[in-house]
Amino acid sequence: MKKIIAIDGHAATGKSSQAKKIANFFGYNYIDTGAMYRAVTYYCIISDLLSEPINVRTIIERLNKINIEFKISNKSQIILLNGNDVEPFIRKMDVAENVSKIAGIPEVRSFLVKIQRQIAIKNNVVMDGRDIGTVVFPNAKNKFFLTASLEIRAKRRFEELKSSNETIIYSKVLENVKIRDYEDSSRLVSPLKPAKDAIIVETSNLTENEVFERLISLING
Ligand code: DC
Repeated sequence: MKKIIAIDGHAATGKSSQAKKIANFFGYNYIDTGAMYRAVTYYCIISDLLSEPINVRTIIERLNKINIEFKISNKSQIILLNGNDVEPFIRKMDVAENVSKIAGIPEVRSFLVKIQRQIAIKNNVVMDGRDIGTVVFPNAKNKFFLTASLEIRAKRRFEELKSSNETIIYSKVLENVKIRDYEDSSRLVSPLKPAKDAIIVETSNLTENEVFERLISLING
C-alpha cells in the first residue's frame, strides 16, 4: 500500500480543487471518487435504468458491464466510462440530481471501493470523497474533512456550473446541495461523517489558497 491522503467533506466544499493541488504538490495521483459515482449514475441515465420506479437489481446486474478508469489528458485528469471520456456529462444537473440514489446502493459502493483500493496499491494517492477516511482507507495517516456553510457551498457550485455555460438558477443549486447533504449524511451505508481521526477544516472564510496552505502544513509523513 502506497501513501494516501484522504479528503472527505460536504458537497461543494472545494475538496476536488484542494485534492488536485495537493496531488500536484507531492507528485501523487489524484482520484476523484465523486466522479466515479457520477459516472455510474451517468451510465444508468443513458441506459434508461433510472426511470421510476428504479430497478436496483438491474443496476446491480449491470455493474459488470461498467469499466471506470482515469486518464491524464492535457495535464488534467479525465474519467473514462467504458473507454469514453464522460467528464463533460457527469457534472450536469441531471447527474447531480440522481447520484445520491446510486451512491446509496451498497453493491455500487463496494464495486467502486474495490477499484479505489486497487488504484492505491500501485500509486501514492490523494483521494477525495465522502467515505475515504472512514471506509475506503481507515488506516490512512492523513485525513481531512472539509466543510463550509450551505450558502457558500451552493454559491461556489453555482459559479462553477455557470462558467461551464449550463443554464442554471441559484435556488435550484442551493436545493440540490441541501438535498445531497441530507442524503449523503443520512444513508445507511457509509454515511458522510468525519473519521474520528480526521482534521476538520472549516473553509467558509478562507480563500482557496489559504485552505491549501493549511492542508499542506498539516500533512505529515
Ligand atoms: O464529490 P461529488 O459532489 O462530485 O460527489 C457526487 C456524489 O457522489 C455525492 O453526492 C455523494 C457521492 N459520493 C459518495 O457517496 N462517496 C464518495 N466517496 C464520493 C461521492
